Amino acid sequence: MTDNDDYVDLGPGHSRDGERLQKVLARLGIGSRRVCEDLIRAERITVDGQIATLGQRIELDDAKVEIDGTPVPVRPDLVYRLVHKPAGTVSTASDTHGRPVVVDLVPSSPRVVPVGRLDLDTEGLLLLTNDGDLTHRMTHPSFGVEKEYLIQVEHPLKAGQLRQLRNGIDLDDGRTAPAKASQPQDGMVKLTIHEGKNRQVRRMCDAIGHPVLRLVRTRIGPIVDPSLVAGQWRELSHSEVRSLYAASGSESPADRAVNQTRAGRRSSSST
Ligand code: URA
Repeated sequence: MTDNDDYVDLGPGHSRDGERLQKVLARLGIGSRRVCEDLIRAERITVDGQIATLGQRIELDDAKVEIDGTPVPVRPDLVYRLVHKPAGTVSTASDTHGRPVVVDLVPSSPRVVPVGRLDLDTEGLLLLTNDGDLTHRMTHPSFGVEKEYLIQVEHPLKAGQLRQLRNGIDLDDGRTAPAKASQPQDGMVKLTIHEGKNRQVRRMCDAIGHPVLRLVRTRIGPIVDPSLVAGQWRELSHSEVRSLYAASGSESPADRAVNQTRAGRRSSSST
Protein backbone atom coordinates (compact mmCIF):
# COMPACT_ATOMS: atom_id res chain seq x y z
CA MET A 1 0.00 0.00 0.00
CA THR A 2 1.04 3.56 -0.36
CA ASP A 3 2.30 5.78 2.44
CA ASN A 4 -1.12 6.75 3.71
CA ASP A 5 -0.69 9.44 6.39
CA ASP A 6 -2.44 12.08 4.36
CA TYR A 7 -3.28 10.13 1.27
CA VAL A 8 -6.55 10.99 -0.43
CA ASP A 9 -8.11 9.14 -3.28
CA LEU A 10 -7.89 11.27 -6.41
CA GLY A 11 -11.23 10.07 -7.72
CA PRO A 12 -14.66 11.47 -7.02
CA GLY A 13 -15.45 11.96 -3.37
CA HIS A 14 -11.90 12.53 -2.16
CA SER A 15 -11.09 14.65 0.88
CA ARG A 16 -11.81 18.37 0.60
CA ASP A 17 -8.52 19.09 2.35
CA GLY A 18 -6.45 17.89 -0.56
CA GLU A 19 -2.99 16.42 -0.49
CA ARG A 20 0.43 17.95 0.08
CA LEU A 21 1.87 19.19 -3.18
CA GLN A 22 5.29 17.55 -2.80
CA LYS A 23 3.57 14.23 -2.16
CA VAL A 24 1.34 14.59 -5.22
CA LEU A 25 4.34 15.40 -7.39
CA ALA A 26 6.36 12.48 -6.02
CA ARG A 27 3.51 10.03 -6.57
CA LEU A 28 3.17 11.20 -10.14
CA GLY A 29 6.78 10.18 -10.71
CA ILE A 30 8.25 13.69 -11.02
CA GLY A 31 11.01 12.70 -8.59
CA SER A 32 11.56 11.63 -4.99
CA ARG A 33 9.74 13.58 -2.25
CA ARG A 34 13.05 15.39 -1.56
CA VAL A 35 13.50 16.36 -5.23
CA CYS A 36 9.91 17.64 -5.36
CA GLU A 37 10.46 19.69 -2.21
CA ASP A 38 13.56 21.20 -3.81
CA LEU A 39 11.54 22.09 -6.94
CA ILE A 40 8.99 23.87 -4.75
CA ARG A 41 11.68 25.68 -2.76
CA ALA A 42 13.30 26.79 -6.01
CA GLU A 43 9.94 28.36 -6.96
CA ARG A 44 9.74 26.28 -10.11
CA ILE A 45 6.24 25.01 -9.34
CA THR A 46 3.07 27.04 -9.75
CA VAL A 47 -0.45 26.16 -8.72
CA ASP A 48 -3.15 28.02 -10.61
CA GLY A 49 -0.53 30.50 -11.76
CA GLN A 50 0.79 31.27 -8.24
CA ILE A 51 4.23 30.21 -7.02
CA ALA A 52 3.68 27.16 -4.84
CA THR A 53 4.79 26.85 -1.23
CA LEU A 54 6.12 23.82 0.60
CA GLY A 55 3.38 21.89 2.37
CA GLN A 56 0.63 23.52 0.35
CA ARG A 57 -2.35 21.22 -0.05
CA ILE A 58 -4.02 20.92 -3.41
CA GLU A 59 -7.08 19.33 -4.93
CA LEU A 60 -5.63 17.77 -8.03
CA ASP A 61 -9.04 17.65 -9.70
CA ASP A 62 -9.23 21.41 -9.65
CA ALA A 63 -5.66 22.70 -9.52
CA LYS A 64 -3.53 23.54 -12.53
CA VAL A 65 0.00 22.56 -11.58
CA GLU A 66 2.96 23.56 -13.72
CA ILE A 67 6.72 22.93 -13.56
CA ASP A 68 8.72 25.69 -15.24
CA GLY A 69 5.53 26.66 -17.03
CA THR A 70 4.79 23.16 -18.34
CA PRO A 71 1.62 21.50 -17.06
CA VAL A 72 2.22 18.46 -14.87
CA PRO A 73 0.75 15.53 -16.75
CA VAL A 74 -2.29 14.57 -14.72
CA ARG A 75 -5.55 12.81 -15.40
CA PRO A 76 -6.93 12.63 -11.88
CA ASP A 77 -10.04 10.80 -13.04
CA LEU A 78 -7.95 7.79 -14.08
CA VAL A 79 -6.60 5.43 -11.43
CA TYR A 80 -4.16 2.57 -11.81
CA ARG A 81 -3.76 0.03 -9.04
CA LEU A 82 -1.38 -2.89 -8.95
CA VAL A 83 -2.53 -5.84 -6.88
CA HIS A 84 -0.79 -9.03 -5.88
CA LYS A 85 -3.67 -11.43 -6.33
CA PRO A 86 -3.65 -14.28 -3.83
CA ALA A 87 -4.65 -17.82 -4.89
CA GLY A 88 -8.36 -18.43 -4.25
CA THR A 89 -9.42 -14.91 -5.24
CA VAL A 90 -11.61 -14.41 -8.30
CA SER A 91 -10.42 -11.77 -10.78
CA THR A 92 -13.87 -10.52 -11.73
CA ALA A 93 -15.82 -7.62 -10.26
CA SER A 94 -18.27 -9.95 -8.49
CA ASP A 95 -18.77 -13.67 -7.92
CA THR A 96 -22.05 -15.55 -7.83
CA HIS A 97 -20.49 -18.25 -5.62
CA GLY A 98 -19.56 -15.79 -2.88
CA ARG A 99 -15.81 -16.29 -3.27
CA PRO A 100 -13.41 -13.43 -2.46
CA VAL A 101 -13.04 -11.05 -5.41
CA VAL A 102 -9.96 -9.10 -6.32
CA VAL A 103 -11.72 -5.70 -6.47
CA ASP A 104 -12.40 -6.02 -2.74
CA LEU A 105 -8.65 -5.73 -2.16
CA VAL A 106 -8.66 -2.07 -3.28
CA PRO A 107 -10.79 0.98 -2.34
CA SER A 108 -14.28 0.75 -3.82
CA SER A 109 -14.18 4.29 -5.22
CA PRO A 110 -13.50 5.09 -7.96
CA ARG A 111 -14.71 1.81 -9.39
CA VAL A 112 -11.96 -0.13 -11.16
CA VAL A 113 -12.01 -3.38 -13.08
CA PRO A 114 -9.33 -6.04 -13.52
CA VAL A 115 -7.18 -5.77 -16.63
CA GLY A 116 -7.67 -9.28 -17.99
CA ARG A 117 -7.97 -12.28 -15.74
CA LEU A 118 -5.92 -14.64 -13.71
CA ASP A 119 -7.37 -18.06 -12.88
CA LEU A 120 -8.74 -18.67 -9.40
CA ASP A 121 -5.55 -20.47 -8.37
CA THR A 122 -3.10 -18.17 -10.14
CA GLU A 123 -1.24 -15.66 -7.99
CA GLY A 124 0.68 -12.53 -8.75
CA LEU A 125 0.44 -9.18 -10.44
CA LEU A 126 -2.87 -7.88 -11.72
CA LEU A 127 -3.76 -4.33 -12.75
CA LEU A 128 -7.05 -2.72 -11.78
CA THR A 129 -8.06 0.48 -13.52
CA ASN A 130 -10.89 2.60 -14.86
CA ASP A 131 -8.85 3.39 -17.98
CA GLY A 132 -10.56 1.41 -20.74
CA ASP A 133 -7.92 2.30 -23.33
CA LEU A 134 -5.13 0.86 -21.20
CA THR A 135 -7.20 -2.26 -20.49
CA HIS A 136 -7.62 -2.81 -24.23
CA ARG A 137 -3.92 -2.25 -24.91
CA MET A 138 -2.81 -4.63 -22.17
CA THR A 139 -5.18 -7.44 -23.11
CA HIS A 140 -5.47 -7.37 -26.90
CA PRO A 141 -2.82 -9.65 -28.45
CA SER A 142 -2.21 -7.21 -31.32
CA PHE A 143 -0.36 -4.87 -28.90
CA GLY A 144 2.00 -7.69 -27.90
CA VAL A 145 2.47 -6.63 -24.28
CA GLU A 146 4.46 -9.32 -22.50
CA LYS A 147 3.33 -11.13 -19.39
CA GLU A 148 5.84 -13.21 -17.48
CA TYR A 149 4.97 -16.21 -15.32
CA LEU A 150 6.88 -18.34 -12.89
CA ILE A 151 5.62 -21.91 -13.00
CA GLN A 152 6.28 -24.72 -10.59
CA VAL A 153 6.01 -28.21 -12.05
CA GLU A 154 6.80 -31.58 -10.48
CA HIS A 155 9.69 -32.73 -12.67
CA PRO A 156 12.47 -30.92 -14.55
CA LEU A 157 11.71 -30.07 -18.18
CA LYS A 158 13.92 -31.45 -20.92
CA ALA A 159 15.60 -29.04 -23.33
CA GLY A 160 13.23 -30.20 -26.10
CA GLN A 161 10.20 -29.39 -23.98
CA LEU A 162 11.47 -25.86 -23.33
CA ARG A 163 11.99 -25.57 -27.09
CA GLN A 164 8.38 -26.65 -27.66
CA LEU A 165 7.15 -23.90 -25.32
CA ARG A 166 9.32 -21.39 -27.19
CA ASN A 167 8.28 -22.45 -30.69
CA GLY A 168 4.54 -22.72 -30.06
CA ILE A 169 2.14 -25.39 -28.88
CA ASP A 170 -0.92 -26.61 -30.77
CA LEU A 171 -3.90 -26.01 -28.50
CA ASP A 172 -7.51 -26.73 -29.46
CA ASP A 173 -8.09 -23.00 -30.16
CA GLY A 174 -4.95 -22.57 -32.26
CA ARG A 175 -1.17 -22.57 -32.05
CA THR A 176 0.48 -20.38 -29.43
CA ALA A 177 2.81 -17.62 -30.64
CA PRO A 178 6.57 -17.91 -30.07
CA ALA A 179 7.35 -17.38 -26.38
CA LYS A 180 10.37 -17.03 -24.12
CA ALA A 181 10.95 -20.02 -21.87
CA SER A 182 13.74 -20.90 -19.48
CA GLN A 183 14.25 -23.11 -16.45
CA PRO A 184 16.01 -21.10 -13.72
CA GLN A 185 16.04 -24.23 -11.58
CA ASP A 186 14.77 -27.79 -11.98
CA GLY A 187 10.97 -27.82 -11.93
CA MET A 188 10.75 -24.01 -12.04
CA VAL A 189 9.92 -22.53 -15.45
CA LYS A 190 9.90 -18.87 -16.48
CA LEU A 191 7.54 -18.33 -19.41
CA THR A 192 6.88 -15.01 -21.17
CA ILE A 193 3.90 -14.78 -23.50
CA HIS A 194 2.04 -11.92 -25.15
CA GLU A 195 -1.30 -13.51 -25.92
CA GLY A 196 -4.19 -14.03 -23.56
CA LYS A 197 -5.75 -17.35 -24.47
CA ASN A 198 -7.89 -18.82 -21.73
CA ARG A 199 -5.74 -20.77 -19.22
CA GLN A 200 -2.95 -20.54 -21.75
CA VAL A 201 0.01 -21.27 -19.48
CA ARG A 202 -1.68 -24.23 -17.82
CA ARG A 203 -2.71 -25.69 -21.17
CA MET A 204 0.77 -25.21 -22.66
CA CYS A 205 2.30 -27.02 -19.70
CA ASP A 206 -0.31 -29.79 -19.84
CA ALA A 207 0.48 -30.24 -23.54
CA ILE A 208 4.13 -31.02 -22.82
CA GLY A 209 3.24 -33.37 -19.96
CA HIS A 210 4.08 -31.04 -17.06
CA PRO A 211 0.91 -29.97 -15.27
CA VAL A 212 1.24 -26.74 -13.31
CA LEU A 213 1.55 -27.08 -9.54
CA ARG A 214 1.79 -23.33 -8.87
CA LEU A 215 1.49 -20.36 -11.20
CA VAL A 216 2.58 -16.80 -10.36
CA ARG A 217 2.50 -13.79 -12.70
CA THR A 218 5.69 -11.83 -12.05
CA ARG A 219 5.62 -9.14 -14.74
CA ILE A 220 3.12 -7.17 -16.84
CA GLY A 221 5.01 -5.41 -19.63
CA PRO A 222 7.63 -3.36 -17.77
CA ILE A 223 5.89 -3.61 -14.38
CA VAL A 224 7.45 -5.82 -11.70
CA ASP A 225 7.18 -5.60 -7.92
CA PRO A 226 8.66 -8.44 -5.90
CA SER A 227 8.03 -6.47 -2.69
CA LEU A 228 4.25 -6.50 -3.12
CA VAL A 229 3.00 -9.46 -1.08
CA ALA A 230 -0.18 -11.45 -1.69
CA GLY A 231 -3.27 -9.35 -0.94
CA GLN A 232 -1.44 -6.00 -1.09
CA TRP A 233 -1.93 -3.23 -3.63
CA ARG A 234 -0.34 0.06 -4.53
CA GLU A 235 -0.88 2.90 -6.98
CA LEU A 236 1.17 2.88 -10.15
CA SER A 237 3.39 5.94 -10.47
CA HIS A 238 2.96 8.25 -13.40
CA SER A 239 6.15 6.91 -14.95
CA GLU A 240 4.89 3.32 -14.65
CA VAL A 241 1.64 4.25 -16.42
CA ARG A 242 3.71 5.95 -19.07
CA SER A 243 5.88 2.84 -19.47
CA LEU A 244 2.82 0.60 -19.86
CA TYR A 245 1.49 2.83 -22.63
CA ALA A 246 4.93 2.88 -24.23
CA ALA A 247 4.98 -0.95 -24.17
CA SER A 248 1.80 -0.86 -26.27
CA GLY A 249 3.24 1.75 -28.66
CA SER A 250 1.43 4.84 -27.39
CA GLU A 251 1.71 7.79 -25.03
CA SER A 252 -0.30 7.94 -21.82
CA PRO A 253 -3.54 9.97 -21.55
CA ALA A 254 -1.77 12.43 -19.22
CA ASP A 255 1.10 12.91 -21.69
CA ARG A 256 -1.40 13.25 -24.50
CA ALA A 257 -3.16 16.01 -22.54
CA VAL A 258 0.14 17.84 -22.01
CA ASN A 259 1.18 17.50 -25.64
CA GLN A 260 -2.19 18.79 -26.77
CA THR A 261 -1.79 21.76 -24.44
CA ARG A 262 1.70 22.42 -25.81
CA ALA A 263 0.51 22.09 -29.42
CA GLY A 264 -2.35 24.48 -28.64
CA ARG A 265 0.09 26.99 -27.19
CA ARG A 266 2.39 26.73 -30.21
CA SER A 267 -0.43 27.25 -32.69
CA SER A 268 -1.91 30.19 -30.73
CA SER A 269 1.54 31.87 -30.43
CA SER A 270 2.16 31.47 -34.18
CA THR A 271 -1.09 33.21 -35.15
N1 URA B 1 -2.33 -18.61 -17.97
C1 URA B 1 -3.03 -19.47 -17.23
O1 URA B 1 -3.11 -20.65 -17.53
N2 URA B 1 -3.66 -18.99 -16.14
C2 URA B 1 -3.58 -17.70 -15.75
O2 URA B 1 -4.16 -17.35 -14.74
C3 URA B 1 -2.83 -16.82 -16.54
C4 URA B 1 -2.21 -17.29 -17.66
